[in-house]
Amino acid sequence: NLSPIETAKFAAARRAVDFVEGGMRVGLGSGSTAAWMVRCLGQRVREEGLKITGVPTSDRTAALARAEGITVVALEEARWLDLTIDGTDEFDPDLNLIKGGGGAHLREKIVATASDQMIVIADAAKEVAHLGAFPLPVEVVPFGWQTSKALIEEILVSLDVLGREVTLRMKGDVPFTSDEGNRILDLHLGRIGNARQLALVLNQVPGVVENGLFIDICDRVVIGHGDGRVELRD
Ligand code: A5P
Repeated sequence: NLSPIETAKFAAARRAVDFVEGGMRVGLGSGSTAAWMVRCLGQRVREEGLKITGVPTSDRTAALARAEGITVVALEEARWLDLTIDGTDEFDPDLNLIKGGGGAHLREKIVATASDQMIVIADAAKEVAHLGAFPLPVEVVPFGWQTSKALIEEILVSLDVLGREVTLRMKGDVPFTSDEGNRILDLHLGRIGNARQLALVLNQVPGVVENGLFIDICDRVVIGHGDGRVELRD
């Protein structure tokens, strides 16, 4: 009785966990699609006795993975991972991504780059010709975040982007706080011409911890459709 969008997310998640083999160290993504993946993985652990170690990318995913019976360790302990499976907010034809809609892209990027392989699971609506319609999340430290924001706004003027509005992410009346205790700025760019350049330049701004562009990190996208079909892109 799932809606078409949930069917699509579930279908992609279920297909992606087929790539997990016994003994693997697996990065566990965050968000609603990744939550399906954690549940599917938990089912394999309980029903098949699949032995894996999970490294969660958020406190929320850690809690879900434990509840599903998956052995969870921190990245500090696992160090290197075989595979990370995560959701995304957008992906383009080169499999570059915008992530961080849930504010977890910092840990997600660290975990993904510590992995031999990254598989992204997404419903078909997340495919775009050009990244940027989804606001680009940039994590900044709380100290002097207004200065970081002003510097980013200055930089956007000189870059190949359509929009330039930068907003502080809120949660109700207070600023949203990431798992690492930071703030998130959302960059409303509309269309990003040169995502590789933008990703590099943003991380040069003092106070910026990490941006949500994942360039050359994703190896494969599993796309789910509303009727339960899945498609692989690599
Ligand atoms: C979390 O910060 C994000 O990177 C998520 O991966 C992204 O927002 C996808 O979430 P959904 O699967 O809920 O769309």
